[in-house]
Amino acid sequence: MPTLDCAHLPFLLYGGDYNPDQWPRDVWREDVALMREAGVNFVSLGIFSWSKLEPRPGDFDFAWLDDVMDMLHAGGIAVDLATATASPPAWLAKQYPESLPVTSTGVRLAFGARQGYSPHSQAYREHAARLVERMADRYKGHPALAMWHVNNEYGCHVSECFSDAGAAAFRLWLQRKYGTLDALNHAWGTSFWSQIRYSWDEVDPPRAAPTFVNPAMQLDWKRFSSDAILELMHMEVAILRRVTPDVPITTNFMGFFKPLDYFKWAEGEDLVSEDAYPDPSSADEPAHNAMRFDLMRSFKRGVPWLLMEQAPSAVNWRPRNSPKRPGQMRAFSLQAVARGARGVMFFQWRQSAAGSEKFHSALVPHAGRDTRVWREVSALGADLAKLGDIREAPVRADAAIVFSWENWWAMELDSHPTADLKMLGQLRAYYDRLYEQNLTVDFVQPGQDLAGYKLVCVPNLYLTRLEAVAALERFVAQGGVAVVSPFSGIVDENDRVHLGGYPAPLRALLGVRIEEFAPLQPGEGNRVATRDEELFTSRVWSDVMECTTAQPVAMFTEDYVTQRPAVTRNAFGAGYAYYLGTCLDADGMRWVLARARHDAGLVSPMATPAGVEAVWRGDWLFVLNHTRDAQRVALPAGLRDALSGAPASALADLGPNESRVFRRP
Ligand code: GLA
Repeated sequence: MPTLDCAHLPFLLYGGDYNPDQWPRDVWREDVALMREAGVNFVSLGIFSWSKLEPRPGDFDFAWLDDVMDMLHAGGIAVDLATATASPPAWLAKQYPESLPVTSTGVRLAFGARQGYSPHSQAYREHAARLVERMADRYKGHPALAMWHVNNEYGCHVSECFSDAGAAAFRLWLQRKYGTLDALNHAWGTSFWSQIRYSWDEVDPPRAAPTFVNPAMQLDWKRFSSDAILELMHMEVAILRRVTPDVPITTNFMGFFKPLDYFKWAEGEDLVSEDAYPDPSSADEPAHNAMRFDLMRSFKRGVPWLLMEQAPSAVNWRPRNSPKRPGQMRAFSLQAVARGARGVMFFQWRQSAAGSEKFHSALVPHAGRDTRVWREVSALGADLAKLGDIREAPVRADAAIVFSWENWWAMELDSHPTADLKMLGQLRAYYDRLYEQNLTVDFVQPGQDLAGYKLVCVPNLYLTRLEAVAALERFVAQGGVAVVSPFSGIVDENDRVHLGGYPAPLRALLGVRIEEFAPLQPGEGNRVATRDEELFTSRVWSDVMECTTAQPVAMFTEDYVTQRPAVTRNAFGAGYAYYLGTCLDADGMRWVLARARHDAGLVSPMATPAGVEAVWRGDWLFVLNHTRDAQRVALPAGLRDALSGAPASALADLGPNESRVFRRP
């Protein structure tokens, strides 16, 4: 697989989306000069340029892009060149109205925004493929071309299309998966509610229906929709690999984006890249941002990923768009580097004068160079230039969280015991408690080998395949510690209940038997008392359960579940498996994870005040103050300031939102 680490990019990448087609030529020259001044060495070019590159079907105009490519190269700036297929021109929609996407209620979306195409449209596919072929032919061997940027944020606005072409593609996908209608009827449990299909024509997408649509069908539709859009990426990648086999390929992800199974997607690209837009006004965002960066690193373990987009300051698409406070942009940027990024990029280089994103911040704001944003991005460019050696350094994680898209989709289907169990909240229940201990986390798919981790957290593994059970059992038997959330081990890959008493396939590992679920109403809670007499609140969920081989470590104290186990610990081989029969409050999770970490021998690498994050990457230590107050942090001995080279003192003082980087000699 081609990589980005060619000899001519021996630094952290720094830059952003560059849209010169929105500006006259004289601005381009100024752009290159300013890029050099800000330390920019890499730009993503031409993402939304299709209508400029192909003004009429089959009539291409590359002259302007040739000039931009040459100019950037002359300025020493490498290019992440877009295939430009993200937003088809008006002529495609006019000539092929069926290329526009259709919603579940049958509305065909109009041209006039962006991403106006159905993933199932033959016309879109053919025209996109032709454009990619022409782009690849034109720029193969161009010295500025460092990477291909396939499409842009696939699925961001249109992640499912319920058109007739979509229905036909769904049927084909199902035929490949099941072979026969009998197999499909069995997998979907169609004896329920008279849903048996006797001919493939009777299978349609889960369009708006009188009430709950067959859940196994909904689940297959999610899988199919992710695969259908992935097919578009594969189509482009095949062309690029043929014409430019040595040029690495990426497409930009959007963190925990529910519609697309990025584990599968990441296999098809050389470098994982990510767009992250934390809300600067929310104190909750640093942990969430850290979590998505850890996810990105987990897709290709050991290979750096790239922060492809973030805002230099405010975005335009929230109801209220706060700017990033002084220091915040730097903190979020260094957070990415700390968690394994190969570079830091922005949307976008120059703030647009027209269009929907004219109030979105940019490296060059409307007000020009004499601005705080410009000063901060230029200063960051200079700092990153001193950190180039870190670009391949690995990030070590001793803890992992089990996560999969398929389980996310299944867990949040309708008609469940409660609508209040949400995957992101359940992930955060673990992640935040590890984050505040400055413990870095990998995300692993169910069934993946867990050797090498000390602690593995399993938030709501509702859909449990037997290989996931085997991997967990192997891990714990060999001395690992697992913590498992409620509503795990419930159904198989077709959303069919594992019979025999919940959580049937996990009963040996967890040593419990659940008779009944007792979810709570909003505002309702129970209390959970631990054996050492701590008391926590629990919400959302309670299991009515008994221990078979596990020991209870905390009991409910209210209602009819009083004195029933709420949290259990089961010795299994050389390790332990904890089970939470409820959703504990933050203090409760802290308590459970402290016990589990103790069993696992997993210690925090460094203590910091609340809101201050410390992350090791190789020999570098990043200390990020995400609070609006000054903070003092005790440092390990023997460090140097990675930017000034000066020896670090035992205590580091950080101003509001200030970040520091240290290095072990
Ligand atoms: C996304 C897109 C960009 C731009 C930004 C604005 O990340 O990829 O084109 O629209 O959002 O925040």
